Amino acid sequence: MGYTKQERVQPVRVLGVAGSLRRGSHNRKLLEAARDLAPDGVEIKIFDLADIPLYNGDRDKDQERPEAVEEFKRAISEADALLFATPEYNHSIPGVLQNAIDWASRPAMKSPLAGKPVGIMGASPGALGAVRAQQQLKLVLLATLAAVMPHPGVAVGQVAEKFDNSGTLVHEPTRQFLAAFLGDLAQWSRRFHGESEQQGRRAA
Ligand SMILES: Cc1cc2nc3c(=O)[nH]c(=O)nc-3n(C[C@H](O)[C@H](O)[C@H](O)COP(=O)(O)O)c2cc1C
Repeated sequence: MGYTKQERVQPVRVLGVAGSLRRGSHNRKLLEAARDLAPDGVEIKIFDLADIPLYNGDRDKDQERPEAVEEFKRAISEADALLFATPEYNHSIPGVLQNAIDWASRPAMKSPLAGKPVGIMGASPGALGAVRAQQQLKLVLLATLAAVMPHPGVAVGQVAEKFDNSGTLVHEPTRQFLAAFLGDLAQWSRRFHGESEQQGRRAA
C-alpha cells in the first residue's frame, strides 16, 4: 500500500551559519547544540564562513566569483531554511557575517536569500545574549527579502556557564527553549514550502 501524503513529509533541511570564526566560538557551539537537539524531521548542516573573502563587486560575476562564495550560495539555495547564530560586535553583527550576507544577497531581490525562511539566535558572555546584534541581523536579512521568523529569538546570555568543557550545552532550560525554537523554525519553514503545520507536526 502506498504512503499517505502525511507520511511522506520531507525533512526540513536547515543550513546553520555562525557569525564567528573563532575556534572556541560560543555561537558555533550553540549551532552544534541546535544540530544535536533538532527534532525528528529537522536536519541541520553547518556552513563555515572562514574561506569567504571580502566582498568585491569586480569579482561578483559569473566565472569570477570566489569558489567559497559559490559554495555558500549553493548551500543556501539547497537548504529549506537558514539558522544564524550571531555574536554581538559593537552592538551590531560581526563584519564576517555582514560580508557573507552581502555576497549572498546578489542579485538584489532575486538572490538565494529572497524568500528563504530564517531563524536567528545569538550568544554572548554578557547578560544580553547578543540581542542588539540579533535586531540588526533581522534588518539586514529583511533587506534581502529573507523570510525572517517573527519570533523573539534565542538569546543566550552568560553563555560560558551554559556549556561544559567539552562544548556540550548543559543548561537544561536553554536546551528546552532551543528545542522548542527549532520546532517553531521547522513549522515556519513548512509554511513556505507548501506543507501544512499539521503535516509537519505529524512528521516530527
Ligand atoms: C570587536 C568586538 C566587539 C564586541 N562588542 C560586543 C558588544 O557590543 N556586546 C556584547 O555583548 N559583546 C561584545 N563583544 C564580546 C562578544 O560577545 C564575545 O567576544 C563573544 O564570545 C563572541 O562570540 P563567539 O564566542 O561566538 O566568538 C565584542 C567582541 C569583539 C571581539
